Amino acid sequence: MGVVGRQFGSPTGSLGRLPGLVMARRNAALNRLLVAQVAHRVGSPRVLAELGFGPGVGLAALLATFPDAEVLGADPSAALVGQAAARNRMAVHAGRLRLMQGDVTVLAPFAPIDLILAVHVLYFWSHPVAELMAIASLLRSGGHLALGYQLRQHMPPVAQQDFPREGHRLYESDREVIALLEAAGLAVRHQAVLGRTDSPASRLLLATGA
Ligand SMILES: C[S@@+](CC[C@H](N)C(=O)[O-])C[C@H]1O[C@@H](n2cnc3c(N)ncnc32)[C@H](O)[C@@H]1O
Repeated sequence: MGVVGRQFGSPTGSLGRLPGLVMARRNAALNRLLVAQVAHRVGSPRVLAELGFGPGVGLAALLATFPDAEVLGADPSAALVGQAAARNRMAVHAGRLRLMQGDVTVLAPFAPIDLILAVHVLYFWSHPVAELMAIASLLRSGGHLALGYQLRQHMPPVAQQDFPREGHRLYESDREVIALLEAAGLAVRHQAVLGRTDSPASRLLLATGA
């Protein structure tokens, strides 16, 4: 019971490989779409990071889209650090991609950061305003946070049931998410719904320090 919510928020142990494979299949096109949406709004970031990179499909899109940038990744799951490293092996070996196991705090030594991407991570933050404040503190002046997320009513039924059961929080409106960003001192510069409005693939909020 609740194993889906637990494994997607914190993949571990012998089951830890499976959520990564599912995320890679389900989220690859979406991550590419989000990165493309972000790309022409953020200039040419020199240092960028993905928080909660999962199997690393977003990192692959960031590396391809910003070939001159130094790319960082932070994810608390050891299983997913391994998957993302395997998926982006050449960039790791070339020194273009540095992967770290941990939450937002492991990115601190690399601040200021021009762009931080976090896709489908919001739900797993038990103190979202504190997390967003920590992200905001790492951004270069004028730097961007790109938040990709889904509203509760557009999630698969199993996630709607299991995520709250595991203590994760789901959101019912963009307004709720924007309020978190504003409470953390971030200002929303761009808002988009990707895919069909009645059944979106994802939503995007792009924010800068206020
Ligand atoms: C549903 S997955 C999304 C993965 C990937 N971003 C994607 O779109 O396919 C959520 C990810 O957030 C990570 N995560 C959970 N809690 C986190 C936290 N406090 N900070 C950063 N990442 C976290 C999990 O380990 C997992 O990789």
